This record gives sequence, structure tokens and C-alpha cells, in this order.
Amino acid sequence: MALKVVEVGPDRLEDYAGVPISFQVESILKIDLVDSGLGGATLEEVPIKPAYLKDYDAGEDGGPGRWPERFDLAKFAFFLALDGNRPVGAAAAVYDTPDIHMLSGRRDMAVLWDIRVRPDVRRSGIGARLFEGVVEWSRGKQCRLLKIETQNVNVPACHFYSRMGGRLGEINRYAYAGHPGVAHEVMLVWYLNL
Ligand SMILES: CC(C)(COP(=O)(O)OP(=O)(O)OC[C@H]1O[C@@H](n2cnc3c(N)ncnc32)[C@H](O)[C@@H]1OP(=O)(O)O)[C@@H](O)C(=O)NCCC(=O)NCCS
Repeated sequence: MALKVVEVGPDRLEDYAGVPISFQVESILKIDLVDSGLGGATLEEVPIKPAYLKDYDAGEDGGPGRWPERFDLAKFAFFLALDGNRPVGAAAAVYDTPDIHMLSGRRDMAVLWDIRVRPDVRRSGIGARLFEGVVEWSRGKQCRLLKIETQNVNVPACHFYSRMGGRLGEINRYAYAGHPGVAHEVMLVWYLNL
């Protein structure tokens, strides 16, 4: 595969959205508090039967095609991983944007907003290449920290972020309580020192 990662503008969001983000949930990280949390928490990978498909684009947020109408994209960056001309992966990052709550108003932190690799070519290093692109971009914006949100139902992503050097910074068992369909999920927020 002749892979290259390129930064693109929002005019390429249609190509971006053509890379599926969905994945099979075959296991979850079960989180248990020890002594109500005073003794910390344990995370244990347990299988889920039957497995089910999770598709972030299918939710109320609508996926990349709707980002232009929902957000000020001035300080977003978009990356495509191309095999020849064919998009096989994509990632987005953002910094210094007030309406992105994940940034908490900080200017020294970037957020990995989205990352996705075509299902047929996952586990071949494309995600890592995209992640490196986001890290370089974030450093170039003088950010010291990269923040990444995922969930305990996305075990592949958790392994990926851990492997990329991320460290688990937040376990929020109540984050999605008001959101039908995902209320059972636990928010896991990873941080990478840049
Ligand atoms: C998460 C994702 C982007 C990773 O991309 P990828 O191209 O498959 O990842 P890479 O091949 O670069 O993996 C790099 C390392 O991460 C780890 N890793 C990646 N996927 C893994 C998995 N399913 N299980 C365990 N470790 C995994 C491995 O250590 C891997 O190195 P190795 O293959 O040499 O062991 C991809 O799985 C994906 O598109 N998932 C669906 C979309 C998604 O969940 N996005 C994140 C939303 S928060």
C-alpha cells in the first residue's frame, strides 16, 4: 500500500465521511469501584454476546458531513490517509475554539476530534500514521496536551490510544446518563503529553 497522510480542508469532508467509523462491539471494559472508589477502580475486559455494531455517525450528531453547520471549523485540522487516491482513513483535531466544550476554554490543549480507518485495512498502521499527524499538528499549535474521548464499549480504540502513549485521565460513569441508547456507556478520556 502506498500510504500517505495529507492535511485537507473542509471541502474534503465528503471524502472524509466516506471512511466508515463503525465497528463491532465484541467486548467492553467493565468498570468496578473498589470500596466506593476510595480504593480506586478496576477495568476488566469482558465479552459481549451478541456483538453489536456501533456507528458514531448514525447518532444525533450526524457525522462529518454536518460539522460545517454545527461548528466553527477555523481551528480544526482534517487529515486523510490515502492509498493512491483512495481515502482509507481520516482524522480531525481542534484547538482554541470556544464552542468545543471538550477544550474547556484552554489554549494549551488540542482535542483529537475523530479518527477512523476503513474496516478492511484496520490494524495495518494507518491509525498510527494519522495519530502522528495529529500530534505534529497539535505541537505546531503550541499545545502541551492532546485530549481524546472514547467509551468503555470501544475496546480497540482504548488499546490504540494506550499504544499511542495516551494515559487514562478520566472515568465518567455518569457522562451519558441522559442520552438514550448510550446511557450504559462509560466515558473514558485519554490524555497525551505533547
Ligand atoms: C481505532 C482505530 C482508528 C485504530 O486504527 P488502526 O489503523 O486499526 O490502528 P493501527 O493499525 O495503527 O494500530 C496501532 C496499534 O494500536 C493497537 N491497536 C489497534 N487496534 C487494536 C485492536 N483492535 N486491539 C488491540 N490493539 C489495537 C495495537 O497496539 C496496534 O499495533 P499492532 O497492530 O502492531 O499491535 C480503528 O480501530 C478504527 O477505525 N476504529 C473504528 C473507529 C473508532 O472507533 N474511532 C475512535 C472513536 S473514539
